[in-house]
Amino acid sequence: MSTSTPADAAKPPVKLLFEPIRVGRYDLPHRIVMAPLTRSRARQPGNVPTALNACYYAQRASAAFIVSEATQVSMQGQGYAWTPGIHSREQVEGWRLVTDAVHEEGGRIFLQLWHVGRISHPALQPDCMLPVAPSAVKPAGEAFIENERGEGELVPFVTPRALQIEEMPYLVRQYFRGARNAMAAGFDGVEIHAANGYLLEQFICSSTNKRTDEYGGPVENRARLLLEAVATVTEVWGKDRVGVRLSPLSAFNDISDDDPETTFGTIAGMLNDEDLAYLHVVNPATAALEKGEEPDARAANMLRLMRERYRGRLILAGGFDRDTAEAWLRQGKADLIAFGRKFIANPDLPERFRLGAPLNRDDPTTYYGGGAKGYTDYPTLAQERGEQPKPCVDDRWR
Ligand code: PHB
Repeated sequence: MSTSTPADAAKPPVKLLFEPIRVGRYDLPHRIVMAPLTRSRARQPGNVPTALNACYYAQRASAAFIVSEATQVSMQGQGYAWTPGIHSREQVEGWRLVTDAVHEEGGRIFLQLWHVGRISHPALQPDCMLPVAPSAVKPAGEAFIENERGEGELVPFVTPRALQIEEMPYLVRQYFRGARNAMAAGFDGVEIHAANGYLLEQFICSSTNKRTDEYGGPVENRARLLLEAVATVTEVWGKDRVGVRLSPLSAFNDISDDDPETTFGTIAGMLNDEDLAYLHVVNPATAALEKGEEPDARAANMLRLMRERYRGRLILAGGFDRDTAEAWLRQGKADLIAFGRKFIANPDLPERFRLGAPLNRDDPTTYYGGGAKGYTDYPTLAQERGEQPKPCVDDRWR
């Protein structure tokens, strides 16, 4: 849904998007964040980041900071073919290529720590076991796996195995190991993925958490695993280099909550007390913004609630263009704005926003899997003027 209209060029300059801001321990030059984006281009076998991935991220180093694609903290935490991990030595070495390349270009990059819970399939799990979840509730929909011919294929989800309470400390340990590995790989911080229907949100939301132990029932219990993840990750990183991502009101991955205002309002308050670098919220008004409409009452109320309960740095992601981003910053609805698809197609997105330049359009057929095409070959403005691109090594996966 990226746009490319000549009228962009005539737009007045934006101001607030380019105001420097401190986030945790970092002084950032502007407010344009690169959102986490699954691209499914890790080398196989082993889900290892490559020099091609390093090139892609380095091209986008002019973001205020980058949040990496979601990265599984364990084999059990993987939910899609070809996504990268942060649990093996090879993966740490692969990510080192990425962080070095981003730092060489003057950027900053946080790793997003991911466990998918039930959004997986035995074909992706160690020893073909069932995926795990708070409760044995099957998601509607399909998992993206690699079939016997090495191709991507969609297969129906299965009913996951409910985690036993004795396993919970080891799940927390997966986040600890991921956090430590992220530091060894040279990242600038980490973001805990508690959004979009994956494991931590499966604990948070009532449709997926039917537990009767201390991880189920009242929101304090449903948020327990998230807070344990925050505690173990901040042990490694301190508070000022850790963020959390939430997606209140999103039904993505077949999830819902009986009382999202209480659930997410309470959790925003709990996270506020943790004094983290930031809270990153998937905009509940994404669809409205994309249609050029105002948020509906429910989304507007949730946005207000997040802003009220969370007093630290708030990043909003989803549906923004340059002008709506500027307007929402002006209205005080957020401190920074994250862009996803626009960053896929425009490695120099901040520069294009600064100039009011036209944007390249993204190609959804190349989002997931493959090599350089639709990944590292989107041109910058300088390249459109004839400058040669820095060559990328396409050491693709097979
Ligand atoms: C996806 O691969 O579609 C995906 C991955 C992680 C998210 C959301 C979507 O948080």
